[in-house]
Amino acid sequence: MRVIIVKNYDSMSKLAAKFVKEELLKKPDLVLGLATGSTPLGLYKELIRMHKEEGLDFSKVTTFNLDEYIGLPKDHPESYHTFMWENLFKHININPSNIYIPDGTVEDIKAHCIWYEEKIAEKGGIDLQILGIGRDGHIGFNEPGSSLASRTRIKTLARETREDNARFFGGDINKVPKYAITMGIGTIIESRKLILLASGVNKRDAIKKTVEGPITAMVPASMIQIHPRAIVIIDQEAASLLEREYETWEG
Ligand code: PGA
Repeated sequence: MRVIIVKNYDSMSKLAAKFVKEELLKKPDLVLGLATGSTPLGLYKELIRMHKEEGLDFSKVTTFNLDEYIGLPKDHPESYHTFMWENLFKHININPSNIYIPDGTVEDIKAHCIWYEEKIAEKGGIDLQILGIGRDGHIGFNEPGSSLASRTRIKTLARETREDNARFFGGDINKVPKYAITMGIGTIIESRKLILLASGVNKRDAIKKTVEGPITAMVPASMIQIHPRAIVIIDQEAASLLEREYETWEG
């Protein structure tokens, strides 16, 4: 695992965008795994800037999102469909038919999850997966206790996660859906490259356990330790409990 400590959120976003750009220039038909939440917003802003100012081309890119709430219509303001369109897709030249996000409104969720896994395989697998991390160590919506070999499926959200996300639902935890569809840890780990991002003191415990703790289903992100090409980009606050020496980036 390559751990890179940067100054702040802005540098984290810029460095992550630099890696995405490098991969995209090497492989214009990149299969990109995407995350939602506050963490990747700066990365998406920087990718939009690179598209507008440097002509970074997304026309051949395919994307797969990690997760989606169950029960929210696609056009709900807090659905991850809306999030992705508002914060990235509508600003770049991606082909809408190359965008995949789990659909939390389907009747047969099980069949939908199988279809999602098949689509990932059909596109040749994910080349680069972007990950955030929950305070409880989740990746995607794989909450503590998730099987480390899990595939795309329905998960019950942890109370901590619903508390954290209540800010997007007018501060009311009861409005946060209880269930989500998420790629499994097994699905995520099969990506050829992973970039996990974290910023701020709230994430320091989760990062400490992920980077320097044992691999355990109680900290799902710790599973990235077995990945041969995982990069963890964290700011100084998120890194503040780490005890070992790591690479730094001053950009
Ligand atoms: P955040 O969420 O980026 O909004 O902190 C991360 C996550 O829950 O995975």
